[in-house]
Amino acid sequence: MPGGVYGHQNGAALGEGHPRFLARAERARVWDVDGNEYVDWMCAYGPMILGYGHPAVESAVAEQVAAGDCLPLPGPRMVELAERLVALTPRADLVVFGKNGADATSWAVDVARAHTGRPRIVRARGAYHAARPWALPHLPGVPAHHRDDLLEFAWNDLDELRACFAAHPGEIAVVMTTPFDHQTGAAPAPGFFAGLRALCDEHGALFAMEDVRAGFRFHLGGSCEHWGAAPDLICYSKAIANGHALSAALAREALRAPPSASTSPAPSSSRAAPSRPRWPPSPSASAPTPSRRSSGSGDCSCRGSPSRRGAMESPSCRPASPRRIRSGGASAAGARSSPRPGPTRTRPTTGSSRPPTPRRTWRGRSRRASGRSGRSRRRPDPSP
Ligand SMILES: Cc1ncc(COP(=O)(O)O)c(C=O)c1O
Repeated sequence: MPGGVYGHQNGAALGEGHPRFLARAERARVWDVDGNEYVDWMCAYGPMILGYGHPAVESAVAEQVAAGDCLPLPGPRMVELAERLVALTPRADLVVFGKNGADATSWAVDVARAHTGRPRIVRARGAYHAARPWALPHLPGVPAHHRDDLLEFAWNDLDELRACFAAHPGEIAVVMTTPFDHQTGAAPAPGFFAGLRALCDEHGALFAMEDVRAGFRFHLGGSCEHWGAAPDLICYSKAIANGHALSAALAREALRAPPSASTSPAPSSSRAAPSRPRWPPSPSASAPTPSRRSSGSGDCSCRGSPSRRGAMESPSCRPASPRRIRSGGASAAGARSSPRPGPTRTRPTTGSSRPPTPRRTWRGRSRRASGRSGRSRRRPDPSP
């Protein structure tokens, strides 16, 4: 276990005098393997907002684990949460779930690239968004094109962002920022997010609010509500499930499908068509269309360019799906023409000991549920 944990920070980064191995945690306290007790002021780097082992959270988790932990299709809880998130978030219509912050931010980048057909990402200088090649392109072993694809501008400096767009016309897919500068604690300057939005619209790029760390803390509708920002994509993770592995990325309806497959054009990207997309590299290797995506043939742009292999690992990059194993003497052709495999549907048993889950939607609570506006933090936040 080099470094102890995977990610951009590990126990060694805490310095001398801090424990390196923890044995257990309860409420606000953690115990190391030698039995020393500490108050975890860092809340496990952010997610433990209700404290370790909060009874309400743990009983909800236990209930779902008893009902089925790793299910291959969405269930009522997932739908309920998606509805609640959309109802809480005035700027979002769609949700996708992941397991950590990097899942959410990487999904936002993938959507922006698919939607614009462009390769480049812009972030505030030094901002941390994920332990993934697109976000940490200078790590050893990361292909060089990730370094080309990542551009930076100084937090609050709209002139530098404007220059970035001017230097890379038609190449920027997304500008991703946190709601305040996590490096220094600086709040957005008046007009910063409005200017950022205007530049994205002018150049046909998307704006992603990276709310992994700050989400639900400034405002329940997303930090964008607190700062009056208008992003296309919002990424949540830390405060969403009190330490359980869950993240979410939200988007506007216009981003449901890339423009090639969309019936309604996306306002922010339709104003300026990409003049010279650098990605995909050749005309034959265009952005994946739904039909290519579903072909499962493994025929995608990554094949044509070995130097770019591994880039844009979209579903279309997957190898051909494995053949269905024959059973009961059915021929391969018969297997193909037979109904799709899936779980056998059984009739619900009457008199079951488990009462049916009450249907509950959160839509009615949408606009009422607004968060308390907090003051901006001026101090640097030590969590990663
Ligand atoms: C601002 C920010 N974005 C993204 C991430 C990545 O989250 P995760 O480590 O859950 O992938 C972190 C993690 O600390 C973060 O602080």
